[in-house]
Amino acid sequence: MKRIHIINGPNLNLLGKREPEIYGNEGFEAYLLQLIQEFPDVKIDYFQSNVEGELINAIQSAGVNADGVILNPAGYTHTSVAIGDAIAAIKIPVVEVHLSNVHAREEFRKISHVSAKAKGTISGLGLHGYVLALQYLIKH
Ligand code: DQA
Repeated sequence: MKRIHIINGPNLNLLGKREPEIYGNEGFEAYLLQLIQEFPDVKIDYFQSNVEGELINAIQSAGVNADGVILNPAGYTHTSVAIGDAIAAIKIPVVEVHLSNVHAREEFRKISHVSAKAKGTISGLGLHGYVLALQYLIKH
């Protein structure tokens, strides 16, 4: 059974309530239950934190406990060299996911410290991006 860790960064605990015109009306926990039902043959672990170091610990831990990571580093995407370094330090594939299209927004969102270290990036497809990332990681 494949073990996939989903790691969400700051403010994604507010999904569904936070700027719904950008991020949608659905909370992540409800969506996660659907994902778990849709993919019964995958062991999906979920972790969310607003704290950079906790996200780094979760990435390092996934590196030894999982087969792949789906990571939405949220605001830290654009600022965190250390999260980029953590991805480079582990051997399993990491798919970067953003709900919004970061290239169609403010200039600072076009900079990612994560994309170059990730296997690939999905941006702008809302929560469906997590399904696509999961499908990729199941096959690779
Ligand atoms: C985000 C995009 C980031 O720029 C932003 O800071 C977020 C969420 C997204 O999923 O679209 O918090 O990662």
